[in-house]
Amino acid sequence: MISMISHGLSACAGEGDRYSSGEVIESQRVYWSDVAPIFTAECAGCHDDPPKLGAPQTLKTYDEVTPWVERIAVRSLQIKDMPPGGLRGEGAARLLQLWIDQGAPRGEVEPIAGEEMSAGDDELLGPTWDSTVFELFEIYCNTCHANPPTGGAPFPLKTFEQVTPYIDRFYERVIIRKDMPPGGITDDEDLELLRLWLDAGGPQ
Ligand code: HEC
Ligand code: HEC
Repeated sequence: MISMISHGLSACAGEGDRYSSGEVIESQRVYWSDVAPIFTAECAGCHDDPPKLGAPQTLKTYDEVTPWVERIAVRSLQIKDMPPGGLRGEGAARLLQLWIDQGAPRGEVEPIAGEEMSAGDDELLGPTWDSTVFELFEIYCNTCHANPPTGGAPFPLKTFEQVTPYIDRFYERVIIRKDMPPGGITDDEDLELLRLWLDAGGPQ
C-alpha cells in the first residue's frame, strides 16, 4: 500500500535486515501497514468479517480497529488474554505498543522522509488532489464510488474530473452531516485534511 513508501524505515537503508529479523527499533514510526499483519495473523481468525467464535467485532481494517485501540491495549498488552493465550508473533507486542503510543496513525498521509521539502510546501499551500487527497478518496470513498460504482453509490470518484462537480456535496455529507462514507471519517487528521482541501475549493 501507499503507506509502505512513507514507512519510517525507508529513511534508513540498511535497517531492513534488523527489521525483518523481528527486532523493533524504538525510534521508528509505526503505521497501520506495520501492524496490519498482526491483526491478520493473530486476530482475524475470530475477529473476522463476520466475526467468529464469539468475538464481538471485526478487526480487519484500520477503521474497524481504531475505535478499539484502548481496549486492545488493555487486553492484548496489559492483561495479555487477547488473543486467548497472548500474542504469539515475535516483536508483535512491542510493535503494537509503539503504534498505540504514537496515536495509532494510519500513515498514508504522513510526510515522506526523503521528501520533506514537498511536505513543507504542502503545509504552506494546503492539500491538493494530486498530493494527498486522491489517497483519501481511495481509502474512504472508492470502495463504493468505484468505476463502475458499487454498494448503491451513484457515481465513481476516482479522478479529479469525476470529483470536481461534487465539491459542495462533499462538504455537506463528509464535513457537516458526516454520513459519507456511511459512519463518517473517524480519523481526525484525515477529516481535517479533507476540510482544508474543500475550504480551498478542491484544488488539483
Ligand atoms: C480465538 C478467538 C479470538 C482471537 C484469535 C482474538 N480474539 Fe478478541 N475476542 C474474542 C472473544 C470471544 C471476545 C469476547 C469475549 C471477551 O471479551 O473476552 C473478544 C473480545 C475482544 C475485544 C473486546 C473486549 C473488550 O475487552 O473490550 C477486543 C478489543 C479484542 N477481542 C481484541 C483482539 C485482538 C486485538 C486480537 C488479536 C491481537 C484478538 N482479539 C484475537 C476472541 C478472539
Ligand atoms: C459504503 C459505500 C460508500 C462509501 C464508502 C462512500 N459512499 Fe458516497 N454514496 C454511497 C451511496 C449508497 C450513495 C447514495 C445514497 C446517499 O446519497 O446517501 C452515495 C452518495 C454520495 C454522494 C451524492 C449524494 C449527495 O448528497 O449529493 C456524494 C457526493 C458522495 N456519496 C460522496 C462520498 C464521498 C466523498 C465519500 C468518501 C469520503 C463517499 N461518498 C464514500 C455509498 C458510499
